[in-house]
Amino acid sequence: MASKKQFFNLSYFIILLICFDACKKDEPIFQNINHQDFFISCNRDTTLVSSEGVRIIIKANTFQCVSDHRVHVQFAAILDKSDMVLNRVYTIDRNGDMLESGGMFQIQDITTGADVFNKPIQLLVPANPKYLNFNMAEYQLAKIDGISVWARTSNTARISKGEGALNGKELFKQNCASCHNAKLRDKLTGPALGNVHLFRSKQWLRDFTKDSQALIAKGDSTAICLWYEWNKSVMTGFKQLTDNDIDQIYEYIANQSRVMEIGQDEIKYETECDLAKRISKYDSFGVDTSIVENYTIDTNSMTYRYELALQTKNWANIDYLLNVYTRIDPITVMLDKSYENTSMALVFQNRNIVVPFYQRLESDGKFVLLNSIGKQQINFPIDEKIWIVAFSEASEFRYKVEEYTTKKVGNNLKFSLDSMSKEQFIQELKKL
Ligand code: HEC
Repeated sequence: MASKKQFFNLSYFIILLICFDACKKDEPIFQNINHQDFFISCNRDTTLVSSEGVRIIIKANTFQCVSDHRVHVQFAAILDKSDMVLNRVYTIDRNGDMLESGGMFQIQDITTGADVFNKPIQLLVPANPKYLNFNMAEYQLAKIDGISVWARTSNTARISKGEGALNGKELFKQNCASCHNAKLRDKLTGPALGNVHLFRSKQWLRDFTKDSQALIAKGDSTAICLWYEWNKSVMTGFKQLTDNDIDQIYEYIANQSRVMEIGQDEIKYETECDLAKRISKYDSFGVDTSIVENYTIDTNSMTYRYELALQTKNWANIDYLLNVYTRIDPITVMLDKSYENTSMALVFQNRNIVVPFYQRLESDGKFVLLNSIGKQQINFPIDEKIWIVAFSEASEFRYKVEEYTTKKVGNNLKFSLDSMSKEQFIQELKKL
């Protein structure tokens, strides 16, 4: 599949950003974020747990020791889409491309105000299973002319399961990669395995992986057909792997398929004698909730953690750069009239992504999604369920949360803002 990434011209992007909402007021960003304060000893190892369940591991002498050895540490986190909307914090990189965030974090040494820490501070961030992603990278807040965007660092954000290391990837490498292409799209000695979890049941995958020959002997039609199709080459049995090990391998394959955006029909699972039916619904893009029980992701949000090391007091963000190959018409919103001091953002229902709209001041006052500016078409998922959130903070608070599903053509919306309290708005945002 051809990938045509559209990149913003950086200077163009900056000029546009200067005009959009928060920039007008030149106020400090992230001002409404709740901070948590901790007082720790500068010369001892300390582990803190934030109210969001983030473990903060601070080694002795990470901070400068002052007279009484006490350091005032402030921790801030933005994990919810509601916090992003309210604070006008968006998940876009410096090219205006969309990022899927696993959380944004900042640690400050209030006592000395140091910019850089003597040692990296390790963060273990509970990964929301709904948005779990194995290819996260670390981004840092970058201000360009006072505008906040996220800039990729060279660090990846490691992911771990519970106390031990996540081993689905490792198990796949050690046991399967010699015959199954790690790119999951192509054949090797064995078939391509991308999205295999959508076509075979969990129990079948366990049985097949442990001993495919035993399945064949039992008369399992899928196993028999595959075996003939692959000229009776025998797949090694993996009796030594536990169900849990095997599940982790397919969790890895499921997530990796999503990360690599392998389409539902890209890999043929029908063999000549066995017309495999897809066992579950799969949307044009990611892992559908209907298959979550069958495969992929643990329902216990504490099970997976992103690991991140903070070296400075700058904000860090765990992100995945969303590569989208489908193209749709730009998303625009026309409000019924002009409201004072209006902010507008697009919030994905099934991803942790918040993208700002920019108001075309010069002509009709239409709001255009930031990555739509000046484009005939944009790279954006089709049939993606989104909300468009608009609020006007004038003497009278008004807002609207409009649900929408993206189409290939004609994404032009029109609505008005309703007069309601800010408290109501915040309540509604929390549910996003
Ligand atoms: C020695 C090579 C080899 C190794 C190692 C191997 N496979 Fe296979 N695999 C095959 C072949 C060949 C087939 C085709 C079916 C057959 O010949 O029985 C296959 C088929 C499969 C299928 C069936 C695909 C479908 O259409 O349903 C799955 C699933 C699978 N392998 C998973 C794995 C996993 C997981 C591992 C590692 C734990 C692994 N394989 C290791 C060679 C291998």
